Amino acid sequence: MIRLAVRVRREDAELALAELLTLAPSGVEEVDLGDRVEYAIYGAAGELPDLPDLEAAAGDALVEVTTSHVEDDWAERWKDFHRPIEVGGRLLVRAPWHAAPGPGAAVADIVIDPGQAFGTGAHHTTRLCLELLLGLDASSARAVMDVGCGSGVLAIAAALLGFAPVAGVDHERESVAATLENARVNGVAVRATRHDLMHDGPVPGAPVVLANLLRPLLLRVAADGFTGTAPDVVIASGLLAHEADEVAAAFAEHRGLREADRRHGGEWAALLLTR
Ligand SMILES: C[S@@+](CC[C@H](N)C(=O)[O-])C[C@H]1O[C@@H](n2cnc3c(N)ncnc32)[C@H](O)[C@@H]1O
Repeated sequence: MIRLAVRVRREDAELALAELLTLAPSGVEEVDLGDRVEYAIYGAAGELPDLPDLEAAAGDALVEVTTSHVEDDWAERWKDFHRPIEVGGRLLVRAPWHAAPGPGAAVADIVIDPGQAFGTGAHHTTRLCLELLLGLDASSARAVMDVGCGSGVLAIAAALLGFAPVAGVDHERESVAATLENARVNGVAVRATRHDLMHDGPVPGAPVVLANLLRPLLLRVAADGFTGTAPDVVIASGLLAHEADEVAAAFAEHRGLREADRRHGGEWAALLLTR
């Protein structure tokens, strides 16, 4: 778990906090340092905002940015300020210590223990995928493949929405373990296996493919395709806004999928590609 701390001048702290919260919607820790205020963001490697974005968000108020690894007490400290994420009024992604939605609440409840793998729901790229997933028809119970499953948050959401069977792949052993454990905690059936997109060739396809990956990996998936079932729907996320056209064109050329929707969040974009 990494802790990114941004120190700002007290007189400009409120403005800086508002900007920082757009980069870290699940919340920041606030530490009073007298004439300065420290705002800290915790996350798994890869899930934290980039340093230049943090510096830009803090603007003129910035004093310094520091990065440290946190081993022991982060979970306890994080509990105070980490917030649940609601998507489309139908999905709630929360940590184990947050209160569950009340009986009769019209939201699917997803519990993810943060910090094990990428995917607490707080990152724009994950949220955009969940938004697009909510727009799909789950009534025909189609199979789903989550490529780069991380914590398994997308696969678990798909299973809770009624898609089946649901599987995920990731090149990290920790991500596969986190997906299986999180699926167990959430009471859904998700298969997860290791697969390295750079070395192991095409992944098994499914009618619905979720792929929150970076541009080079999405281009790789578009070019390599899938074994077995060719998808009718691909949700592709993890793209900077200016990279979306190139990835949409690659899926059109190699897989015959056309852009049906595009969502933006912060500097990120996600694509809904359909046959
Ligand atoms: C942006 S995270 C997405 C996690 C989760 N699906 C979500 O939406 O929050 C990207 C995931 O892709 C995985 N990944 C990166 N390179 C990969 C590769 N070469 N093969 C397979 N998975 C990879 C990472 O381990 C990470 O879990």
